Amino acid sequence: MARGRVAGAFAQLLALSSVCFAYADIVSELSAREISASEAKSSYDFIVVGGGQAGLVIANRLTEDPHKSVLLVEYGYISTDPAQEDPSSAKGLNNQLNATVYAAAVLGGGSTGMMLDRGAPDDYDNWEKLGNKGWGWSDLLPYFKKATHLVPPVPSIANEFNVTWDLSAYGPKNTPIELSFPTFMYPGTKNQYKGMIEAGVTPQKEGALHAYGLFWYPGALTAKEVKRSYAVSGYYRPISSRKNLHLLTGTRVNEILFSKSKRATGVTIQARGTPDGENVQVIKAHKEIVLTAGFLHTPHILQRSGVGPAALLRAANIPVVVDLPGVGHNLQDHAAGLPAFQFNTDVTPNPDSLTNNATFQAWADELWAANRTGPRSIGVGNVGAWIPLPVLTPEYKSIVSTIRSQDITEYLPSSYDRDLLAGHKKQRELIAASYTKTTSGAIELPFGGSPAFSLSLEHPLSRGTVMLDPTNKYAEPIVDYHSLSNPVDALVLAKSVQFGRKWMSTPAMRELSPTEVAPGAALQSDEELINAVRGGSIASTAHGCCTAALSPRNQGGVVSPDLLVYGVKGLSVGDVSTIPLITGAHTCATVYAIAEKAADLIKARH
Ligand SMILES: Cc1cc2nc3c(=O)[nH]c(=O)nc-3n(C[C@H](O)[C@H](O)[C@H](O)COP(=O)(O)OP(=O)(O)OC[C@H]3O[C@@H](n4cnc5c(N)ncnc54)[C@H](O)[C@@H]3O)c2cc1C
Ligand SMILES: *[C@@H]1O[C@H](CO)[C@@H](O)[C@H](O)[C@H]1NC(C)=O
Ligand SMILES: *[C@@H]1O[C@H](CO)[C@@H](O)[C@H](O)[C@H]1NC(C)=O
Ligand SMILES: *[C@@H]1O[C@H](CO)[C@@H](O)[C@H](O)[C@H]1NC(C)=O
Ligand SMILES: *[C@@H]1O[C@H](CO)[C@@H](O)[C@H](O)[C@H]1NC(C)=O
Repeated sequence: MARGRVAGAFAQLLALSSVCFAYADIVSELSAREISASEAKSSYDFIVVGGGQAGLVIANRLTEDPHKSVLLVEYGYISTDPAQEDPSSAKGLNNQLNATVYAAAVLGGGSTGMMLDRGAPDDYDNWEKLGNKGWGWSDLLPYFKKATHLVPPVPSIANEFNVTWDLSAYGPKNTPIELSFPTFMYPGTKNQYKGMIEAGVTPQKEGALHAYGLFWYPGALTAKEVKRSYAVSGYYRPISSRKNLHLLTGTRVNEILFSKSKRATGVTIQARGTPDGENVQVIKAHKEIVLTAGFLHTPHILQRSGVGPAALLRAANIPVVVDLPGVGHNLQDHAAGLPAFQFNTDVTPNPDSLTNNATFQAWADELWAANRTGPRSIGVGNVGAWIPLPVLTPEYKSIVSTIRSQDITEYLPSSYDRDLLAGHKKQRELIAASYTKTTSGAIELPFGGSPAFSLSLEHPLSRGTVMLDPTNKYAEPIVDYHSLSNPVDALVLAKSVQFGRKWMSTPAMRELSPTEVAPGAALQSDEELINAVRGGSIASTAHGCCTAALSPRNQGGVVSPDLLVYGVKGLSVGDVSTIPLITGAHTCATVYAIAEKAADLIKARH
């Protein structure tokens, strides 16, 4: 689809930061408990593998008890770039995304994302229906609240834009992550909001409780300073001087070590940049090792340690500790189509005014410099539609019956075994059922005054893989998204292009005189639009997940509802990899909830 317009639309999807953190005093605070490998103790109570988003949450909660020692090992470094705390560090990308796999490698991991929306209750209830007791919406809501609090928008913005919210969805002011709204919004947003209602999408008072239909959402920025509020600022900095914590950065965990009885006893580590397998050091854990290395490296480390699909491990000459086929399977992400329109009678100011109107730009800079207010306080936008399939297309029933009648083996990776197939059958039935509901968003369409928009496929049926390279287990894993391999995924995206046109032709939108730039109004049939979607969509919006999934073992699961890895003892996973079915939301908020719950589960068993 669109090429030139992509950056704007993508910026809304993904607050891609140049990742990192800084200013000398904060850096020294963050490194208060940083040690060199030679200073590491020979053993700790807990080892947390990966100091990304989930790792920092879990390290925070486990060190609340001063009698428990925690080693946090992170491949990246503490960042020293103050700019990354500003909303402007949310960047768009060009369209070189097809081959790009996003992975954070910095203290704080991917939590620098700014769009902090939750999935719909139906999404989490589906997790529970897969056989994961304790992982439904009502179980997770307290953890969402434990992580975040909301500062309501300033009255002028709330009134002019009809922004609604419900404080009961959030926690009290002292929770780690602060959410807020910008002090400026572009007026065209009002046309878009109204047009969305005219196109049949139902507005919600609060998306954090009802993440389907049309709703406003805050960004993970502090209200007053307009600085990023993320795992480093919210979870790590406040506890970075705890005496029972050690932080090792620039260090890679190679393998988990197991005793004869398959208890995880320790990890092998080596300094980043040293030749593979050289100067390897062993550090032991008395109580538990927690994997929080993200959707790519959590399964990679498990596979490297002998926990994974036996055939893969044998091909790589790795002794099999547990044949656990789910490890590295079930990869999901939100593929996205990027259509483009132009507004021939756009209102001013609009997002382009920041680059093509010097007067507006000067005003924006003045407000920002004086009070950190105005257009530059916008992170990645604050409103969008999560369009249920019955609203997206009148043909939803036939799409659902197609899903139910498919031979799934035709579209899944050939490495799926009987258990993974059984698990996928359950997943498929839940997705089909959700596709009949108006309480589940099939397509995400965020907007903020720009004519460029993205269409994210929220509940894909296609499944990818993350597998270690059998020729070199230390090389980056091989990722295959298999994006849109199931034709229903491509069809739903094609229908969403038609919906985008319907939106653009509502009375409210016609005031802006939109014309279609891409994929182009000449493309009308399902087949033409499917081709356009297949050629022009991106496979990832940096929401990679689900590669060490919560699910029963005989359904391809990797961890049980207590997050312990099947077949071994003393080893758990607490990050984005545990998601069994991707939610209709960006992943950050969900990772906070998972990690908070993981910490409670770990504390309860020790
Ligand atoms: C650039 C980017 C922008 C994003 N923007 C948004 C957004 O705006 N909104 C949103 O909701 N979501 C966003 N996401 C997605 C979301 O941030 C992630 O899903 C989430 O942070 C994942 O958390 P995690 O703890 O599972 O993994 P991560 O935060 O990725 O942490 C994994 C950590 O493990 C470390 N690690 C890996 N291997 C090893 C090893 N062998 N030894 C030691 N350490 C290791 C990595 O360096 C990393 O720090 C974004 C993601 C990215 C990458
Ligand atoms: C304002 O929002 C409410 C709730 O979201 C909605 O019902 C109403 O129609 C909106 N009004 C306008 C003028 O947009
Ligand atoms: C440029 O911005 C200023 C200030 O917002 C506005 O008054 C003016 O109309 C804009 N000019 C154009 C050509 O849009
Ligand atoms: C900054 O805020 C102060 C106090 O509210 C206000 O008087 C001033 O006009 C603001 N400056 C700008 C440039 O908006
Ligand atoms: C993405 O990759 C596929 C397969 O290599 C290719 O057919 C498609 O054109 C690519 N899309 C983009 C946007 O580059």
